Amino acid sequence: MSKARLALAGGGPLVVLTGAGMSAESGVPTFRDAQTGLWERYDPTALATPEAWSRDRDTVWAWYRWREHLVGAAEPNAGHRAIARAAGDRSVTVVTQNVDDLHERAGSDEVHHLHGSLFAHRCDRCGTPIAAGPAPTGPVGRLAPPGCPRCEGRARPGVVWFGEMLPQQPWDAAVSAISAASAVLVVGTSGLVHPAASLPGIAADNGIPVVEVNPGPSGLGREAAVHLRATAGEALPMLLAR
Ligand code: APR
Repeated sequence: MSKARLALAGGGPLVVLTGAGMSAESGVPTFRDAQTGLWERYDPTALATPEAWSRDRDTVWAWYRWREHLVGAAEPNAGHRAIARAAGDRSVTVVTQNVDDLHERAGSDEVHHLHGSLFAHRCDRCGTPIAAGPAPTGPVGRLAPPGCPRCEGRARPGVVWFGEMLPQQPWDAAVSAISAASAVLVVGTSGLVHPAASLPGIAADNGIPVVEVNPGPSGLGREAAVHLRATAGEALPMLLAR
């Protein structure tokens, strides 16, 4: 821990790059953890691709609304709160692959969502934001998404599916924040999905110290100067304490 605290010390701008493991202790499932990971239980090609949407929109829409319900029933954990508190002492930019709102609900106010948000429903044709109303309180097999007020389109989840481009603004903000960072903290990601997985390497290639918090193995190798084998809720309150 002391080596990690040393790497993060100095008070300069901190970038925190988070993945699904960040929300695991809030009860929100990750994607690739054995047994519990969403992609261990569901087929991503049937739920998280544009082709899946064209093939069976109502099943995809129902699944994402169920995930919204899971997030709505969750609370930020000690890790989310520690990151939000750290912003009281230094500039902290959160760059997350997560589509939940737990960083914001913990009080972080600079959060960039590389993979979109469960709550940003938009028309699948013209992109108009569409309010979808309350999420169902349990898993439902199929659900017809609401129509668009401006065209014949339908509401789609505001997340980035496999094969889709990332939104440019959060990506640019992430690269700019990392380039100006004095340290990068990577929490709870398997480091397998690009381009997000390339961000720690951008920091390391610029001589910026990278610290990883993850109880398990990940794709992060040489990029991280320190690998803390711990959970977000355990490590972050100590790591980011004043
Ligand atoms: N604290 C910290 N890390 C944890 C915890 C925890 N409590 N629990 C699990 N982890 C770690 C796991 O060891 C794993 O390395 O979190 C990581 C989660 O990895 P994934 O499930 O692959 O999630 P993520 O890396 O965010 O996936 C990236 O894949 O499917 C796409 O769009 C999806 O954004 C997602 C992307």
